[in-house]
Amino acid sequence: MNESSVTYLDNNSTTPVLPEVLDTMVPCFAERFGNPSSLHCCGQRAQAAMKLARMRVAALLGCLPTEIVFTSGGTEGDNLALEGMMRPGDHLIISAIEHSAILSTGGWLERHGCEVTRVGVNSQGQVEPDAVRHALKPNTRLISIMMANNETGILQPVHEIGKIAAEADVWFHTDAVQAAGKIPILVDAIGCDLLTISAHKIHGPQGVGALYVRRGVPLLPQLHGGHQERSRRPGTENVAGIAGLGRASEIALSGLTDGSVERLKVLRDRLESAIVNMIPNTRINGSSVMRVPNTTNIFFEHAGGDALVLALDELGIAISRGAACTAGSADPSSVLMAMGLDGEQSRSSLRFSLGKQNTAEEIDKVAPLIAEAVAQQRQSAAMFWSTPTAPTPV
Ligand SMILES: Cc1ncc(COP(=O)(O)O)c(C=O)c1O
Repeated sequence: MNESSVTYLDNNSTTPVLPEVLDTMVPCFAERFGNPSSLHCCGQRAQAAMKLARMRVAALLGCLPTEIVFTSGGTEGDNLALEGMMRPGDHLIISAIEHSAILSTGGWLERHGCEVTRVGVNSQGQVEPDAVRHALKPNTRLISIMMANNETGILQPVHEIGKIAAEADVWFHTDAVQAAGKIPILVDAIGCDLLTISAHKIHGPQGVGALYVRRGVPLLPQLHGGHQERSRRPGTENVAGIAGLGRASEIALSGLTDGSVERLKVLRDRLESAIVNMIPNTRINGSSVMRVPNTTNIFFEHAGGDALVLALDELGIAISRGAACTAGSADPSSVLMAMGLDGEQSRSSLRFSLGKQNTAEEIDKVAPLIAEAVAQQRQSAAMFWSTPTAPTPV
């Protein structure tokens, strides 16, 4: 099966690059090949492409172009924010449902002399602002709570947490990798000092992203080298990737008002109701709180899990159980477990995430196929459990 015949519903893992984005990138490999730090015209043309991209990313986030630091993606942005702000002896507050880019960096910081508190979530998958307030200590330096969860799409109360951080005089970072382009982001309204985005979640290229760093925030670089990115991230820039991120950001920003995001929500809701109506004993995880418009996480009783992912793959439907970087692990989702699901419920839940390329026809086509695959899986499970076990030889 080739990619064009697949219904791709795994856009929280990565999105296809839009043709307009590719058109912006291609010249950076050819006529704009220069090193943006060079003084000659070739360098200056590359510098101009980066300047335009910086303005476009800043417009998406509501910040100044000078507050954008280009990175190699969401993982680097999260690492740079946490490691660049924390010093030995400092205390960091994160949540239990963060992406591994934050959770693992938290673990690394703990092994290097920092204290870390992981606040839990309620049964609806949201961090309680009061839990963050109660976790504050005299040595708390940074709070990092994501804007939207990658597995469930559930939005976190970042505006309230921003106020708590400001009152406590603590820096605030938010991982907005899964929120960008799906809901409006205004860094001043959130009250964050640092914010991470990644191009490949908004129909831009893989391996490039940006970290917003509010003017005056004492971020230390984590790589050592030249003075690129105002000495916050050395290394010759990925000009084509950055230009692609810029164009993808511009398109993502207009999508918030031109009906594209609303269309995604209509499609997501159509998929959800088709699945819930066609398949008994299914439940949407986190349906009663605000979520990003493209994501749904569904529990299929006595079905689901990696076996269903593979069965649907055979039928030309690409979905996942959760984050791509933890795929293949038999462990239940720590995000769903933190919401109170048990191991079995968590393993039987799947994530469907839509992108700009998905159509109503695709949704109408996949829903009955999913119903069929779930019914088959349940039938095999029932047969397995009803088969009498052979007597054990003595
Ligand atoms: C919430 C969140 N943060 C960070 C990342 C890491 O981004 P990247 O793949 O660009 O390193 C991801 C990727 O799935 C994500 O979903």
